[in-house]
Amino acid sequence: MAGDVLSIWITGGGSGIGAALARHYAAQGHRVIISGRNAQKLQEISEGSDGHIQPLVFDVSDDDASTTTSQALQELTTHLDLLIMNAGSCEYIRAPELDTALFRRVMDSNYFGMINTLRAALPLLREAPHRPHVVGICSLAGLIGFPRAAAYGGSKAAAAYLVHALRTDFGDLLDTTVVNPGFIRTPMTEQNRFPMPFLMEADKAAALIARRIRRRPMTVNFPRRLSAILQLGRLFAPIWYRMYMRSADSLGRKKKASGK
Ligand SMILES: NC(=O)c1ccc[n+]([C@@H]2O[C@H](COP(=O)([O-])OP(=O)(O)OC[C@H]3O[C@@H](n4cnc5c(N)ncnc54)[C@H](OP(=O)(O)O)[C@@H]3O)[C@@H](O)[C@H]2O)c1
Repeated sequence: MAGDVLSIWITGGGSGIGAALARHYAAQGHRVIISGRNAQKLQEISEGSDGHIQPLVFDVSDDDASTTTSQALQELTTHLDLLIMNAGSCEYIRAPELDTALFRRVMDSNYFGMINTLRAALPLLREAPHRPHVVGICSLAGLIGFPRAAAYGGSKAAAAYLVHALRTDFGDLLDTTVVNPGFIRTPMTEQNRFPMPFLMEADKAAALIARRIRRRPMTVNFPRRLSAILQLGRLFAPIWYRMYMRSADSLGRKKKASGK
């Protein structure tokens, strides 16, 4: 496989990590299809890639679009060597309010989106000359509970389970890797108004992902220091959650005292 030109599909390739991955692979001479909902963003990324990057409009949350997208993919390539399921969205909950529609939207893009992507990709993955590789971009947020992240973290934990489980049901056909990034500077994290430890630039994250998935490990967690802290948190989960309850309590007291 080394030296081969790979045929790659990256969902959510119009911005952030997906666009950085597309540019990274295109610069190495591979053929990349990027998809998303915003045709203009996809076109902008494709332009100037010397034809290495091709745009495809696909809303991963649209169950009915899988079949037409599969057909559209087959017009762009004969097979897929590498599928990177990267499309995703993040919405924070406003506890104590539990907005079912918000949870469903996030699950639609981050979890069901992967299922729809797989349905569209499977015929072309089956045509790969070598064992194809399916990568799910999940999140370190899926490892343990964070305040306001019940919808996002839950969707990413479910997505990671899905990608790992593919090893059992599709293990004769393909390899899978779950990638759990920490904080990466992208349009998604622009909305965050809290400290983001070990924040990494998207280009650096893309180069790291491409390097670390090459050997097809089961899981890639990065950055390592944040991952180590969260693994410890999992090990001592009762302490982790008590710590957050304390800070939520003190925040509540401060709010009461200030009358807000
Ligand atoms: N940034 C971080 O700190 C971080 C950390 C951990 C994991 N991640 C994950 O990394 C992935 C990429 O995120 P990012 O940080 O690069 O943010 P981003 O720039 O907002 O990228 C997300 C991409 O997903 C696409 N997308 C969202 N919903 C979609 C849908 N229903 N159908 C098709 N495409 C959809 C968006 O394109 P359109 O709007 O054009 O559809 C966008 O290009 C996400 O899965 C995210 O959860 C990010």
